[in-house]
Amino acid sequence: MTNKDIERVLSEIRELACKTSRDIEEARIRLLGKKGEITALFEEFRTIDKSEKAVFGKPLNELKQAAITRLEELKEAVGGGEAASTGAAADLSMPGDDFPLGSRHPVSIVRQQIVDIFRKFGYDVAEGPEIEDDRHVFEALNFPPNHPARDMQDTFFVSTGHLNPILLRTHTSSVQVRTMESASLPIRVICPGRVFRNEAISARAHCIFHQVEGLYVDENVTFADLKQAILLFAREMFGPDTKIRMRPSYFPFTEPSAEVDVSCNICHGKGCNVCKGTGWLEIMGCGMVDPNVLKASGIDPQKYSGFAFGMGIERIAMLKWRVNDLRHYFENDLRFLKQFESCVEA
Ligand code: PHE
Repeated sequence: MTNKDIERVLSEIRELACKTSRDIEEARIRLLGKKGEITALFEEFRTIDKSEKAVFGKPLNELKQAAITRLEELKEAVGGGEAASTGAAADLSMPGDDFPLGSRHPVSIVRQQIVDIFRKFGYDVAEGPEIEDDRHVFEALNFPPNHPARDMQDTFFVSTGHLNPILLRTHTSSVQVRTMESASLPIRVICPGRVFRNEAISARAHCIFHQVEGLYVDENVTFADLKQAILLFAREMFGPDTKIRMRPSYFPFTEPSAEVDVSCNICHGKGCNVCKGTGWLEIMGCGMVDPNVLKASGIDPQKYSGFAFGMGIERIAMLKWRVNDLRHYFENDLRFLKQFESCVEA
């Protein structure tokens, strides 16, 4: 071993020019690989005299370090630029990583559609508490105490030991009352929300479900306005050919009251098993706000009149997508929910 040997390799290291990471790897093998030049010098070093070892030990170690450092420098210089310029490391035509996205629940999708339709008509959205008191769910809506009409909706009570029991709201009409108590007239709101009824769970009923309540109070509001608002809604929701019909009904808080049916969007009125051969599907209850209800919230029924309507979101969603069992909306079975992925709008 001579100084010349070491210097020759050192100048080789200094002059190293590599364009690709492959060139760098080849240089590494040539210098430091098993049969590399530096490795060979180290092997030779093992065989030389002690006195010579003292001379060559340090320069040899420096040589190895110089090679390592130079190769690192080259790697850095080539690294990023290579991928971008030659395209060798990154194939831009490869599909990207797949991040599975969740999707909105069908009940939220329909709720949003209902809200969007009424927003277009100039309605605002109002919300209220799910844990309510008797006054807002029943009394101010013209349900007299102990009146059998309260049995129309089986109630979950939270506490009953006082004059104004606390309960889970059975309908979103409670938000109607809260809005009339606080908002200035005229009022035009829709109130989407969750409601609770102590009912046995079946294909057609659940103890938790969602409603949208609508309320319009102004001077000279008539039943004709109600009918028109509902017709426009039904056409937006179920298609431009949709017809509606109203059947007389009863709710303590509206007078007169009606049940609204839309023409069956499956058989177009001919009769099928979804509409049970009638050609019609029930979608909501409605009516003119009872003067007692206006009075209970401090609105003068001589001057103002109004209409209200209320519908179940799950029911609308079932009709829209022809789902025959309400329970699908609550069980979170991904096979069911995935079918609505493409229905999500921004
Ligand atoms: N609150 C009624 C229900 O839950 C629906 C309704 C609302 C009816 C407004 C008439 C007017 O069944």
